[in-house]
Amino acid sequence: MQPTLTTGAEGLDLVWPDGTAGFFPYIWLRDTDPAGFHPQTGERAFDLTSVPLDVAPESAELAPDALVLTWPGQEAPSRFDLDWIKAHRPGQRRADPADLAPVIWRRDLGAAGIPRVSAEEVLTTEEGLAHWLAETKRYGLSIVTGLADTTEAGMDVARRVGFLRETNFGRTFEVVSKPDPNNLAYTSDALPLHTDLTNQELPPGYQFLHCLANEAEGGGSVFCDGRAVAEDLKAEDPEAFEVLSTVTVPFRFHDAETDIRGRKTVITLDARGEVSEICFNAHLADILDLDPKDMVPFYRAYRRFMELTRDPAYSVSLKLSGGEMVVFDNRRVLHGREAFDPGTGFRHLHGCYVDRGEWDSRLRVLSR
Ligand code: OGA
Ligand code: ZN
Repeated sequence: MQPTLTTGAEGLDLVWPDGTAGFFPYIWLRDTDPAGFHPQTGERAFDLTSVPLDVAPESAELAPDALVLTWPGQEAPSRFDLDWIKAHRPGQRRADPADLAPVIWRRDLGAAGIPRVSAEEVLTTEEGLAHWLAETKRYGLSIVTGLADTTEAGMDVARRVGFLRETNFGRTFEVVSKPDPNNLAYTSDALPLHTDLTNQELPPGYQFLHCLANEAEGGGSVFCDGRAVAEDLKAEDPEAFEVLSTVTVPFRFHDAETDIRGRKTVITLDARGEVSEICFNAHLADILDLDPKDMVPFYRAYRRFMELTRDPAYSVSLKLSGGEMVVFDNRRVLHGREAFDPGTGFRHLHGCYVDRGEWDSRLRVLSR
């Protein structure tokens, strides 16, 4: 059905018979002219500075299926498909198949509630891959089962998503108790709940930990949904939430080869004000350098957050077995492990990361 068209000084209005209405500024219409995009790459080729900000069409008309605009100094008119322009009217977000509503979880999820999929499904079917990507994104956590007993097996699953994120620990890393560790993960000590590599400019997105052996006494895993902690903190103590979402913490990792430093808030909010990231690692927090007057309020909030991460109300515990791989959003779900006794058996996890952008891209491509 044809809309009605009304032109104004700065833009035009279209109102469709179903009541849908859009206001289309002229500068947006000029910048969005379909002819201004490269025919092969789809990238915008139009140069915005080639027209004045107050550009206006010489004429605006409705053809049966298009809005047709002629512009001063431009021979070919712009043609906008009417269905397309209705779907793309300014003021609303473009639909995104990767924009999945999170399932926020607490203790009641239980180990049995963690989404589980077989490596075979993920590796051999597009439906299995798409289903796993979506579930892992919603929960921020999943377990892939039935992996082959090789260090390549976890990477093969990760590569189904996209490029691996290489870090100073390598493209992949071996979590084993080592004689000269540069990271607490490479000892047999307990690791309290944390997110990895908070010292990086961009901490890695999804983390993959493929369990090759977990024979030692101890060595159980624990996970906690940082979104649940952040949301409950916001309700319980809005001031603490405000501090943790505005005050940046200095983080640092250094060894013989590297000195990698970054600052992050513990809680990051997105443009909609929703919690989009958690960045929490007490081991990597550098000497706190806040203004003295901000110190106690910060410690109060930070310590409360830390207490909540330790509250069993939020945690799900399990012990990984050989052939299982846990996959989680490292910028949302905190992970930790119990101490283990290397004298009682071998423990070996093989890890790698894939960033969130790769994940979302694969979700979108598979939903086409
Ligand atoms: C890590 C880590 C957990 C474990 O390597 O970052 O937290 O279970 N490992 O060893
Ligand atoms: Zn870790």
